[in-house]
Amino acid sequence: MKSVNVNQNIIDLEYAVRGPIPQRAAILKQQGKQIIPCNIGNPQALGQKPITFYREVLSLLENPNLIIREKYISKNYIGDFDNISNYAVEISEYLLNNMETGLGGYTESKGYYFIRESIANFIDKRDNIDSSKSDLQSNPDNIFLTDGASEGAKAILELLISDKNDGIMIPIPQYPLYSATIRRCGGTQVNYYPDEDSDWTLNKDILVESFQKAKDNKINIKAIVVINPGNPTGAILDKSSIIQVIDFAEENDLAIIADEVYQENLYGSKFISFAKAIGDKSIPLFSLHSVSKGFYGECGQRGGYLEVRNPPPVSNSTLSFTELLFKVSSVNLCSNTIGQALVYLMVNPPQQGNDAFDNFTQEKQTILDDLFNKANIIRKSFEEMDGMECFGKIGSLYLFPRINKLPPKITDFEYCMTLLEETGLCVVNGSGFGQKPGTYHLRIAFLPSIESLKSVLPSWINFHNKFVNQ
Ligand SMILES: Cc1ncc(COP(=O)(O)O)c(C=O)c1O
Repeated sequence: MKSVNVNQNIIDLEYAVRGPIPQRAAILKQQGKQIIPCNIGNPQALGQKPITFYREVLSLLENPNLIIREKYISKNYIGDFDNISNYAVEISEYLLNNMETGLGGYTESKGYYFIRESIANFIDKRDNIDSSKSDLQSNPDNIFLTDGASEGAKAILELLISDKNDGIMIPIPQYPLYSATIRRCGGTQVNYYPDEDSDWTLNKDILVESFQKAKDNKINIKAIVVINPGNPTGAILDKSSIIQVIDFAEENDLAIIADEVYQENLYGSKFISFAKAIGDKSIPLFSLHSVSKGFYGECGQRGGYLEVRNPPPVSNSTLSFTELLFKVSSVNLCSNTIGQALVYLMVNPPQQGNDAFDNFTQEKQTILDDLFNKANIIRKSFEEMDGMECFGKIGSLYLFPRINKLPPKITDFEYCMTLLEETGLCVVNGSGFGQKPGTYHLRIAFLPSIESLKSVLPSWINFHNKFVNQ
């Protein structure tokens, strides 16, 4: 058969989260080795239980006959044998009544309007926006439901990058969706480096330095990506960092892409959304959220949204930026309906007074407490590792410690691969996310059970101290 030339951009892109170390882990697992998979933020694959209320609603949506059984048979005649909450029945009926094309039909390209409306309400409530301030309020017409946040990020980057010299600033380290998508779209990745030793904070000097360097190389920077809370750093941006990003974007006429998929993974810290911080400034802002993370962890169901504010004017089309995004979402037909329903549930949690509330609240708190507890256990073990340092408040699902002491010519990739071979612990090398030249890191997701972490941490400490001092 005649060979074909394929897209070089696809050949070149990399995604370390599923790269050589996890691939080796899969082989070792097949050979019977016990693997502790801390390489990926995939909560339910690692034993996190789904939130009962969500699954009650999804099952009723998929099989509406169950609604009838719940309303008229189960409770009255047979007894409430499966304990589906009345509120789940009520919400399922509401959703089915409003999903005009049904669960099995394509929806409007941007997703159901009533769901976008409830997202807009959620954003305004989250950001404490006064109902009299219509210019600060979120607009359902500028919200796009997506198959996870990844699709929203891709749609924006695809539209912004029109030339190989178009640059997108991304934090280093970063979640490789961004480097991969910039590569795929044929643009230029422009790195900026949050200050690790000051808990991954940002200031204008850091941003201006990388902006200027790229400009000197004739790169036309169009947007800056901010991931808050961070992946892989787990750090939560403080107010000053957020304000400096906004000022920098305003001064240099850049759009901000705010990846806020970990906004519920704060463990006591405060989340400040970019939408709130921008206020009435007219900076283009693309905000992303998802059902994959937080305490919901519904990664496989692929639900998310993209909110657009102050879309930039378009110079080479009569269509506006939002109309072009709409065109792209029309070509994709629509995001999946279960994902849309989950986004609705994410932005409308059960409230006090309905019968799903107590269990929902307890499940949510247990998951978040458990994650924080695991993060602290791992972080504490760094104290026993020679030259291991971890900065920043705990956020998202990851820790990103710096390995200050490695034998000459050994990289973090070799460290992580040997760690896997010797202990079964699968983490990702810092170089997979990018890091300041000359520094070495690893990323560990704090998702596996406390028992499996407690069983592997002593071997890791042991391995580490031997490896770095060899
Ligand atoms: C920062 C960040 N953004 C986006 C995503 C992808 O989210 P989704 O599953 O909603 O596509 C991830 C997944 O790990 C992530 O860490």
